[in-house]
Amino acid sequence: MKINFFSSQPYDITFFEQVNNHYQHELIFHEYPLNEDTVDLVKDTSCICVFVNDKLTASVLEKLFKKGIRLIALRCAGFNNVDLITADKLGITVVRVPAYSPESVAEHTIGLMLSLSRHIHRAYNRVRESNFSLNGLLGFELHHATVGIIGTGQIGTALAKILKGFGSHIIACDPKPSDECILLGVDYVDFKTLCQKADVISLHCPLTPETQHLINHKSLNDMKQGVMIINTSRGAVIDTEAVINSLKNKHIGYLGLDVYEQEENLFFQDLSDQIISDDLFERLLTFPNVLITGHQAFFTKQALTNIAKTTLTNIQRFENNIECLHCCHI
Ligand code: NAI
Repeated sequence: MKINFFSSQPYDITFFEQVNNHYQHELIFHEYPLNEDTVDLVKDTSCICVFVNDKLTASVLEKLFKKGIRLIALRCAGFNNVDLITADKLGITVVRVPAYSPESVAEHTIGLMLSLSRHIHRAYNRVRESNFSLNGLLGFELHHATVGIIGTGQIGTALAKILKGFGSHIIACDPKPSDECILLGVDYVDFKTLCQKADVISLHCPLTPETQHLINHKSLNDMKQGVMIINTSRGAVIDTEAVINSLKNKHIGYLGLDVYEQEENLFFQDLSDQIISDDLFERLLTFPNVLITGHQAFFTKQALTNIAKTTLTNIQRFENNIECLHCCHI
């Protein structure tokens, strides 16, 4: 099948071409994203492969349908960037990669937690400047800390398993509690209780209308003084302005982000020669207790291989009229 890729990076080309030796699809890579501005460039293909910041709105989908697109293969887990209701009405199949390596994201989450709790990001810079002072680097231990996990699906569960090894007290909220987490000894509580009790809060729910700005002025008010918040799920689960306010009044003690509400204008590009016009993002960077990575939690060799394998298998099954395994449902 001919597949047009959008938002392609050199590593997408490397991993997909390697895995495609087995499938022999025709792969065409475009560096630019798919959105209202670029949809007119799509031609001569019935399948497209997109990533987290491609915008598949109703009007983009309608144009794609008219161009003959019948399959959209997301090479990621989240599907908040696709208007599934319109896709369903048009009869466009949308597939994704539900679990390519939950451990990749869980381990990165731990990386953010430990970097912040032990100020490793600051220590790195200090030592390079021959500043060996420990003042300001006093840490705290995850051992016996109460860690609240919001969303105990694949990634939240992988995180709970790692935290169990640290000896943390794990609490969680999820409308569908996981049996595996219950067996691990995770205590399920409601969202408000989690906010009140946790020393560290880690977000692992999808972005939906219910979870948009879940972390807002109200929920922040319920949280402990000095709380650590980690977001490796989707940027808009956090109300950035509310969080900046809580950082300014020292209510939030630590903030670790791998995702950001307006990340599509920033992430996955080298903007080091440019002036960044996003004032909220720039404000976040001024806090010494904020650590941001550019949506790299998934970025491991294992995960990229699994993403390519699952995506190309999804496409193969569609082409051969075999039941869809990883369809996105409304
Ligand atoms: P999953 O579907 O296995 O788990 C999500 C869990 O969240 C489910 O158990 C669901 O019941 C729960 N949930 C839904 N609404 C909730 C709410 N209001 N409160 C609490 N829990 C709620 O998804 P998975 O694979 O664990 O991924 C989670 C999210 O992580 C994805 O939706 C995606 O947005 C993000 N992600 C980020 C990556 C990164 O590189 N930073 C990579 C992969 C995923």
